[in-house]
Amino acid sequence: MKQQASITMIPRAELKAKPQAGAKLGFGQIFTDYLFALDYVEGKGWHDARIEPYAPLSLDPACMTLHYGQTIFEGMKAYRGEDDRVRLFRPRLNFERLNVSAKRMGIPTLDVDLALEALRTLIRTEADWVPAEPGTSLYIRPFIFATEGSLGARSARQFRFLIILSPSGAYYASGLDPVSIFIEDEYVRAVRGGTGFAKTAANYAVSLLSQIEAQERGYEQVLWLDGVERRYIEEVGSMNVFFVIDGEPVTPALNGSILPGITRRSVLELLKHQGRPAREVHLDVDKLMELARTGRVTEVFGTGTAAVISPVGRLAYGEESVSFTYDPAQSLAYRLYDDLTGIQYGRRPDELGWVEFVTP
Ligand code: COI
Repeated sequence: MKQQASITMIPRAELKAKPQAGAKLGFGQIFTDYLFALDYVEGKGWHDARIEPYAPLSLDPACMTLHYGQTIFEGMKAYRGEDDRVRLFRPRLNFERLNVSAKRMGIPTLDVDLALEALRTLIRTEADWVPAEPGTSLYIRPFIFATEGSLGARSARQFRFLIILSPSGAYYASGLDPVSIFIEDEYVRAVRGGTGFAKTAANYAVSLLSQIEAQERGYEQVLWLDGVERRYIEEVGSMNVFFVIDGEPVTPALNGSILPGITRRSVLELLKHQGRPAREVHLDVDKLMELARTGRVTEVFGTGTAAVISPVGRLAYGEESVSFTYDPAQSLAYRLYDDLTGIQYGRRPDELGWVEFVTP
């Protein structure tokens, strides 16, 4: 639905203290002074756009999100370049995906231009919170959740859209150090026809026990197989996954249960632009392990907004474990990390037109 972008500013009495330059930020732990809010009521539509003080919410204990999980989110970042200007990376794609998630979860969609304008206004308000140290950014979390208090298991009639901001460092404390991965053969993350392609809380909730058990076995994350045959490679942790096999980059083809990552898409487009296109494939786990065992898989890495690129150093399936050694000078993962962050922070020319400036 087309909306008029008229945003009310509700100031706070006192601003928070910002982190000191060089302080360890962690990920998603510190929040800025303000958030953007927009309400939805059936029959009235989205209304009451405002920037208001970041503060705890007051929710009805029967709030339908708490009982039935009708909620979706996005993840994106604002980057401060060496020129001090604040940039966004392909933000329209995030709001388009938010609407895809909304449709799947029975949530009303947003006008993408209104959401973008809200985001730009909020980032300009909070520009001083965008950190400047290398590898840091302002993590942006837009989300929509049911606010109606009712225990009937049906789609809610009231929702809220919020955007909150968190100055953050690297997602993994280990940065670009390769992580160890356990290939999950018991639990599944998603099935075709389910919600795997939507960025909805349930997909993350179902992954947590598996992550806990993998960590108990000494691995950092899990690699997900398809939910029907538990045979085809889908994702790694909360990221998309790429392999270099016989020198060629490949990634699982989107199939309805894989999240269509914006970093995944950017890696595919960048590789094509650089004349080394990746193939989208259906990759059988037994075949993958055979290729890995015989040295034909030279790299495995995850892609996602939060960590950007995360190299995998060890892959275990059942009793078998295969290791990969990374030489930063030779590795595609490291080069892609450098290329993508180079574009995001303005160290590299933005040849594909992905960057949008938010501050002059
Ligand atoms: C990302 O890779 O950006 C994610 O989706 C992780 C997020 C859940 C923190």
